[in-house]
Amino acid sequence: MSKPFKPKILTFLCNWCSYAGADLAGVSRIQYPPTIRVVRTMCSGRIDPHFIVDGLQSGFDGVFIGGCHIGECHYQDGNVYTLKRMNMLEQVLEESGIGKDRVHLRWASAAEAQPFADYVNEVTDIIKNLGPFNKEQYKLELSALSRTLKTPRVRWLTGIDRKLTERENVYHEKTNPEYLQQVLSKAVKNEYQKSLLIEILKQAPLTVPEMAEQTGMPLYTVSQCLNDLEINGLAEFKEYDGRNPRFMSLVT
Ligand code: FES
Repeated sequence: MSKPFKPKILTFLCNWCSYAGADLAGVSRIQYPPTIRVVRTMCSGRIDPHFIVDGLQSGFDGVFIGGCHIGECHYQDGNVYTLKRMNMLEQVLEESGIGKDRVHLRWASAAEAQPFADYVNEVTDIIKNLGPFNKEQYKLELSALSRTLKTPRVRWLTGIDRKLTERENVYHEKTNPEYLQQVLSKAVKNEYQKSLLIEILKQAPLTVPEMAEQTGMPLYTVSQCLNDLEINGLAEFKEYDGRNPRFMSLVT
């Protein structure tokens, strides 16, 4: 008989609240499944989204992040940035086909031992239902995700968010948060598509129809992204396949 699946969940807990909550759960002998592998960070704001992708690439079945409640972060608003980054990450996880349910963010204070244990149970159940994460199946997507999350465009837009929406510019204007969200969503999607093209072109030179077939992206989108990659020196023409040009990646 095969053993029941026990997920391995990479867990980041902020030192001041959720880690202390986990500690209290331990000394209070509150039971929760031994599925989490804890990394203590000083603040949930320290967790770069690409740490999460690194975790999935390393073979974890899911990722759990615990931080202080909003308004209680010991570094003022680190968790506000965490929340914004998580929203962005969820979008790109959905885009990649991996799905946002592999990653979960919860808030727990130092006194919330039982809620912390409940969150571990909840997240374990969700990831158990998803089954083991097959990192080989999503190798290309994970590499593309990792590249996307490191692009200056995505990092700048995620970091500048609050400055643009909460402070006035020299004309005493604030950026509409919904508009900025749309800009960020579009940028993240576009960077992910370009990163995916880079990853498949690293394997072999391809024509535009071949790229469209492999990625499921429309021909028009592939052409647009390719144009952008060429302008930025990340891909170039390699040879003709009949009347179709093949392109190669310039990224190693
Ligand atoms: Fe806990 Fe910032 S110190 S989230």
